[in-house]
Amino acid sequence: MREFEFYLPTRVLFGRGVVENIGKETAKLGKSALVVTGQSSARKTELLERVKDSLKESGVKPVLFEGVEANPCLETIKRGTKIAKEKGCEVIIGLGGGSPMDAAKAIAILSTNPAPLINYFGRNKVKEVPLPVIAVPTTAGTGSEVTLYAVLTNTEKVPPLKETFADPSIFPRVALVDPELTLSLPASVTADTGIDAFSHALESYLSNRSQPLSDALASEAITLLLKYLPKVMRNLKDINARSYILYASLLAGMAIAQSGTILVHGMSYRLTTDLGLSHGKACAILLPVVSEFNLSQGHPKLTSLSKCLEENTEGSTTKELVEKVITRIKNLITELGLPQNLKTRKIKKELIAEFAQEVMQNKAKLANNPRSVTLKDVIEMYEKALWGYEKGE
Ligand SMILES: [Fe+2]
Repeated sequence: MREFEFYLPTRVLFGRGVVENIGKETAKLGKSALVVTGQSSARKTELLERVKDSLKESGVKPVLFEGVEANPCLETIKRGTKIAKEKGCEVIIGLGGGSPMDAAKAIAILSTNPAPLINYFGRNKVKEVPLPVIAVPTTAGTGSEVTLYAVLTNTEKVPPLKETFADPSIFPRVALVDPELTLSLPASVTADTGIDAFSHALESYLSNRSQPLSDALASEAITLLLKYLPKVMRNLKDINARSYILYASLLAGMAIAQSGTILVHGMSYRLTTDLGLSHGKACAILLPVVSEFNLSQGHPKLTSLSKCLEENTEGSTTKELVEKVITRIKNLITELGLPQNLKTRKIKKELIAEFAQEVMQNKAKLANNPRSVTLKDVIEMYEKALWGYEKGE
């Protein structure tokens, strides 16, 4: 067995109702907290009120920063940081999906480190210890509650670019992972975020930086998501199934915190910024084609992955195993009501070439990807994902 390192400093509290601990947990870290939330759901579901009440009961002053958009931009982080500094916040709480949690991490960095924020994009660029972050996910997908990543939109680039911070100092101190908070999610968000979690698990498993512990987490996440995501789609109020997918999303987050993601995520960013696809949909249309590319010439974990997907592997050739894996992935995507590809020729060849050239600059994702790629390979994968598998389809 090869050597590996595993680092995960986040204390995780998992279970129905654990969000009620927010006041008690925050009080251990500071006297006032910036509560970062998304557009409106935390207010609509009265979660925000519950969090405020819990903070006040524990003697913590809540300061609200509401309305963080999907794929938050630099301006939003600046505004949040200004409020945090003016009000003397000592803790940043990210309450919501990936966007508010990632925004909370970025505000935590900028509260103790000099602007501009773009100086910290990349790996290990943060100098001063950020303010402590408490993460409370309300979707089962991003895994941000247990990662060292924050993805933001760099609006200073033309066109705007999704960029990532990766720094061990931004692992949340505490993650309150409460399945009841996901009960009100509509089917579309459940599917979008669910496939993101599945993609994290699969990408982690295939990543060149994967290791025994991340593999254990990723394979368990794959098994649970395959079993429970379709169940949740059939009954959105199934709290048992909701619990398992939130748990699986947590496992997948822990896995990518060690292994990183591969080209599915690497190729997805421009589909969100330029084509307006949600993060989950972008991953859904890339998953089959990128997985096929990576597995088609064989992969050391192809058999174990097939088993994990509950396929009968006995006597199968590599080609048959790859077919089984890809069919299983496509079936899951269909069960979730997501597209396997866009089948739209409206997306011009020139734009695809531009996307692909940018992917070739993302050295971290290229290094993680199990099969080396050329510009031509990336263009062909984009064409299949965006135009459909059969040329002219
Ligand atoms: Fe993701």
